[in-house]
Amino acid sequence: MSSLDTRRVLLVGGASGIGREIGKAAAAQGAEVIVAGRHPEVVTVPEGGTAIAIDLGDEESIRRAAAQVGAVDCLVVLAADHANGPVESLDADRVRRALDAKVIGPILLAKHFAPAMPKNGVIVLFSGVVSSRPSADLVVMATGNRAAEGLADALAVELAPIRVVSVSPGIVDSGAYDSMGENAKRRYLDAAASSNPVGRVGSPGDIAQVVLLALTNPFLTGTTLHVDGGRRVA
Ligand SMILES: NC(=O)c1ccc[n+]([C@@H]2O[C@H](COP(=O)([O-])OP(=O)(O)OC[C@H]3O[C@@H](n4cnc5c(N)ncnc54)[C@H](OP(=O)(O)O)[C@@H]3O)[C@@H](O)[C@H]2O)c1
Repeated sequence: MSSLDTRRVLLVGGASGIGREIGKAAAAQGAEVIVAGRHPEVVTVPEGGTAIAIDLGDEESIRRAAAQVGAVDCLVVLAADHANGPVESLDADRVRRALDAKVIGPILLAKHFAPAMPKNGVIVLFSGVVSSRPSADLVVMATGNRAAEGLADALAVELAPIRVVSVSPGIVDSGAYDSMGENAKRRYLDAAASSNPVGRVGSPGDIAQVVLLALTNPFLTGTTLHVDGGRRVA
């Protein structure tokens, strides 16, 4: 497997718990890490890295970022925006923003960044276990995640030899559930842990390890890597 030494790695939506862990792991292998999100001013980046602005709902911001950053070797799209709730309650603008983060934004990133990527470049998109195991109130996330997997397969064909892979995490204590409040979050994560075959929820490091594999294994493309503690099948 190749190493990430001197490779330029762009993490979009990379300020999250999982993104931070990927950034640290990539930097430890010698990569230059660039983190993009809607609030670059509050992002912590690994030593030697930079933070830039990208809003996946705004093509102009993607075009500007591509001109500013230039060629990257690895593009990882972690962004997620949430439009949860029963389908009859969904607000159309929130649904669009959620699909901007998971589907339309990644298509526009490929449009603006792929032309400058080297032949051994890699794109990683994020799906999630709700794609294969839908649950009530998560219709939009299930749809966005399944679309991200399809998009990765399709881009792997069109952009070859650039490799494109999707990674599908299970429930991960990444900070994404902090807004539930400590007690509700603990109850939710404990229930998820006890119904997972591995008996626990995931850590950001579990996911970062698999993303690093996707970035460095030259024979991996056009597939989804499920890293979910067995939740998809249990
Ligand atoms: N945590 C889990 O249990 C779990 C389970 C299955 C799948 N996943 C997937 O794994 C990925 C990472 O998860 P996470 O829990 O670490 O993420 P998260 O906390 O939900 O954060 C996602 C990031 O997306 C960014 N974002 C949202 N909308 C954006 C937009 N329009 N443009 C640019 N950035 C945008 C946010 O940054 P700003 O607000 O700063 O822009 C945020 O940093 C996500 O794709 C998620 O769906 C996570």
